[in-house]
Amino acid sequence: MLIMVHSQFLFIALVALWAPVVSATSRVVRQDVAGTATVNIGYHQGEAKFLGAGFIYGFPDNGSSADDSIPDYFVRDIKFQTSRGGGSQISYEGWATGGLEQYRGRFASALSNYRTSRKFGGSYLLMPSDLWGAQGGAPENFPFPGDNGDWSEMEKFLRQVISDIKDNDMLDGLVIDLWNEPDLDSFWNRPWSQYVEYFVRASLLFKSEFPEARLSGPSSAHSPHKDSENWRAWLSSISQNNAVPDIYSWHQIGAWEREPDTTIPALKALLAEYNLPERPVDVNEYAWPDEQNPANSVYYLSQLERHNIRGLRANWGGGPSLHDFMANLIWKDDGGYYPNGEWHLYKYYARMEGERVATSASSDLKFDAFAVLSGRRLKIIAGTRTVKARYNIEITGFTDSGVPPEGSLTVGRYQFDWAGAQGRIWDALYLGTATYEYSQNKLIIPFDPPTEHTAFAFEVELP
Ligand SMILES: *[C@@H]1O[C@H](CO)[C@@H](O)[C@H](O)[C@H]1NC(C)=O
Repeated sequence: MLIMVHSQFLFIALVALWAPVVSATSRVVRQDVAGTATVNIGYHQGEAKFLGAGFIYGFPDNGSSADDSIPDYFVRDIKFQTSRGGGSQISYEGWATGGLEQYRGRFASALSNYRTSRKFGGSYLLMPSDLWGAQGGAPENFPFPGDNGDWSEMEKFLRQVISDIKDNDMLDGLVIDLWNEPDLDSFWNRPWSQYVEYFVRASLLFKSEFPEARLSGPSSAHSPHKDSENWRAWLSSISQNNAVPDIYSWHQIGAWEREPDTTIPALKALLAEYNLPERPVDVNEYAWPDEQNPANSVYYLSQLERHNIRGLRANWGGGPSLHDFMANLIWKDDGGYYPNGEWHLYKYYARMEGERVATSASSDLKFDAFAVLSGRRLKIIAGTRTVKARYNIEITGFTDSGVPPEGSLTVGRYQFDWAGAQGRIWDALYLGTATYEYSQNKLIIPFDPPTEHTAFAFEVELP
């Protein structure tokens, strides 16, 4: 075809071909970017353990048995780590309004989810608040532990929980997450001081009657902040009463709650102020509904991994949908379950084995990356927090890893698309390779997503 073209057209065609090459080269160096995330391959942070591969509820209930309606590979391929529940939003009401029988229905749901988690080697965070009857949207006349200064019902209830955990041999991989989102009226429609007293009394009861149980809290909707009266009252009380949980927990939901880069330093400063020990952290719910897409999930996973936080996806399903779909990673139609775009992102994340290397988010905190080094293969995932903007990934530390400080490297690229929680995506999209020149011990990979939901992975074979 080309030889048929008139020379004038050929000239124009050549100019047109030539122009993008120039801009593609200069883009890396000069074109405006919103910021830069960094990956330092010379600085290792410990083995990858897929800390963020968890979700709350998400497994169907099957009486009190493990459920196998979701095909195993959906769970195994993402290296599922942790689930959390207690029977909320099923037909049983729980203890507070329905007594022992209604409690048993909820306990069975929790036991089923626990057994499903254990089948995949995962851990389970059990919420007594669910067993008590939490549902979200609690009216003021709903009973809460310690109402009118009477803690006897709460103690009777917790003793029942303890005996059921023991009877069902449920301690392995279990954490008792003492109450869900006590800082929201819909889960604790009482003064904060009553919650703090509940937390201390429940902790001391467990410590004396079931010391093997591991406890977490406060699992608040709001992340740690130096100006939070709630956090201060809780920290002060657990310090004075020797009721420090095994795991500090809270939720990172939405940009307004900031991110672990900010909330972990806030927690550490508060712990120092109240003379409290550092402990592992669970962010046992992460991401607002519009933050559940490949780009935002990479963002959250990067933040969790950097700070060694175990993380569980929030689950925005209601009723039976809460107890299914692995918190919106899969959906189903007449043909059975199928994966959405996020599931493929988590599957890629599950294959990021090896040593985690140091990364940092862009300075506007809207772009982040997670990276691992396995032998000479570097894998990076990168994504934005609800913005479509061009960023750079800056890779450094070559000479510390025995790689020349300059040269060229070939980078394989994958794109993770998103068609909504119910939109089937068949696979990550392999985009082929691009070769980048680098110098001064620093390689820049451009990140230019087609949508605010798109994430990318990059793979580099180091010499
Ligand atoms: C429910 O549990 C039973 C064992 O008690 C098992 O045989 C059955 O396959 C499970 N059903 C589903 C749908 O998971």
